[in-house]
Amino acid sequence: MSSSPLPATLLPDTAVLTENDTLVGGVSLRDIAAQFGTPAFVYDEATLRDRLTQAAATFDDGVAFASKSFLCGAMARLVHEAGMCIDVATGGEFDIVVRAGVPANRIIMHGNNKSHEELQRAVSLGVHRLIVDNFNEIERLRSIVSPRQPLDVLVRVTPGVEAHTHEFIMTGHEDTKFGLSVATGDARRAIDLLSAIPGISVKGVHAHIGSQILDFEGFRQELDVLVNFTKDDNFEELCVGGGLGVAYVEGEEAPSISEWGSALRAAALDVGMNPATKITAEPGRAIVAQAGLTLYTVGAVKPVTQRTYVAVDGGMSDNPRPVLYGSGYEAFDVTRPLEPRPQSVRIVGKHCETGDILVDEAFLPAETGVGSIIATPVTGAYGYSMASNYNRVPRPPVIFVKDGVAREVLRRETFDDLARLEM
Ligand code: LLP
Repeated sequence: MSSSPLPATLLPDTAVLTENDTLVGGVSLRDIAAQFGTPAFVYDEATLRDRLTQAAATFDDGVAFASKSFLCGAMARLVHEAGMCIDVATGGEFDIVVRAGVPANRIIMHGNNKSHEELQRAVSLGVHRLIVDNFNEIERLRSIVSPRQPLDVLVRVTPGVEAHTHEFIMTGHEDTKFGLSVATGDARRAIDLLSAIPGISVKGVHAHIGSQILDFEGFRQELDVLVNFTKDDNFEELCVGGGLGVAYVEGEEAPSISEWGSALRAAALDVGMNPATKITAEPGRAIVAQAGLTLYTVGAVKPVTQRTYVAVDGGMSDNPRPVLYGSGYEAFDVTRPLEPRPQSVRIVGKHCETGDILVDEAFLPAETGVGSIIATPVTGAYGYSMASNYNRVPRPPVIFVKDGVAREVLRRETFDDLARLEM
């Protein structure tokens, strides 16, 4: 119901709004659209660095960036420079991070179905931690790990906590494919089995209760379970996973990474955690979401009886979150960021699918129309990383901005890229 300008709190930290342009990292978004075309992902390096530094300062060493939320070589290097580890969930993520030059001992390997090859590579390169998910994996590790090729692990447990979030991104409850149950004794059996394998050292336990969580109650319950479960183990680390939410639309508010970390530590000490135990975490969204935005050009405006459709040059291939989770976003006209937004419209993409909606109800300035450059803020997490080539739409480029300079870190895909797998 907004006719006011977009609140600047949804934009990257360095955003500056002027009468006819929006600057991020000292670079004009109008210029970026002209130079690199649209759609394009733009990330503010200062915002990324701020969130990474906050996480590194708030948690103990071993705190990791969840690379599934956004990964490319440039991002992996920023994470490493800021002193965080990187969490990867597949051999593909692992490979990008290794190619970026991040040492394996700063990588944390996840996955609920790690292949023999994935395990082999993680062990031979020497990851910081491998997060063990199931008994089959333990059997595979038995044949790979030895005192000459040792491995430090955390055991992923399901604490039986229901986080307040969308069902598809809720992971801490019992009926889930992730982790081993504390309640049934599976988690304890896994710890005992692993501890008996020469070369494997169990450093602690890991849990992840879900994503886009704005309320700390679920995390407190998680810590209660983890601390009680491990009270006689003398483990050095408890990893609480990721999950801290961000504000996507006007009126939403999210705690900072520092607030989250302090609340977690207080909750852990409250339930009797040994103060020497390290608390680590794996935030993804809270690091990258607000740092990123997506630029589009409006190509068609179609009023129908019920509403007006504004079609842009991207869509569900660069942001599948609205269609997958019903996620809400805002939009603004980058050349009129201070103007009121009286037009209520539905922003859709160019895909052959009715559900291809980017913003169900967006507000735009009166003059915004065909040819305007608009942006959806807070698209830095799970946008590029879940992007597809549906309808053979090439993926947009990723542009990092900093101190007045725009640097293309991933180029736009071409039709040649789309054809490269044809035999
Ligand atoms: N650690 C583990 C074990 C995870 O499974 C995840 C996310 C994270 C950390 C990072 O969570 P974050 O801090 O980003 O909430 N595609 C969905 C989100 C899926 C999250 C999957 N796991 C979305 O777009 O909302």
